[in-house]
Amino acid sequence: MAEMHPDVQEILFSQDEIQEVVKRMGETISADYADKNPLVVAVLRGAFVFTADLMRSITCPCTVDFMAVSSYGDGVKSSGVVRIVKDLDTKIEGRHVLIAEDILDSGLTLSYLIKMLESRNAASVEVAAFSVKDIPGKRPAVNPRYVGIHVPDEFVVGYGLDYAEHYRNLPYLGVLKPEVYEN
Ligand code: IMP
Ligand code: MG
Repeated sequence: MAEMHPDVQEILFSQDEIQEVVKRMGETISADYADKNPLVVAVLRGAFVFTADLMRSITCPCTVDFMAVSSYGDGVKSSGVVRIVKDLDTKIEGRHVLIAEDILDSGLTLSYLIKMLESRNAASVEVAAFSVKDIPGKRPAVNPRYVGIHVPDEFVVGYGLDYAEHYRNLPYLGVLKPEVYEN
């Protein structure tokens, strides 16, 4: 087990647990997309770690491309206003697009992205979310086809997820101590 970072109050999913979860997602996706040659779209920056693992557990032919979006916000909460920072290099008309996302919170970022990709006449647009935040009384704006794990309504970091660009390198998913972002 990895040494816990001093800014992390609790490890929710260990590196080994994450590997298991992502492997299973890849197996399901491989079966569903066996003859579809999907384009896996990683939403930078957070999803790059998940996408790298997911790709390696997908056994059918597939390609990958990257998009970077920034949602105007204060770093802890998403605002739903999305700006494309880096667009795809791949033409997606007629392609089966699978968006790989690190965490689904309000889902506002993703619902915007999905609409945009659908408007380019993709054959299908689905979402593989490594994690979904369970917020009591709230449902995300997007219903992902594939979900890795559910996390409580707390700010989590690691496995690609950041706070102010840090902690993406932690191999586990942990809860950030609130005092780190409250001052
Ligand atoms: P949404 O638009 O509210 O679904 O926010 C999605 C984006 O907000 C994610 O792609 C993350 O970049 C960020 N985000 C939301 N919750 C967390 C969290 O707990 N830790 C780190 N990033 C988060
Ligand atoms: Mg993100």
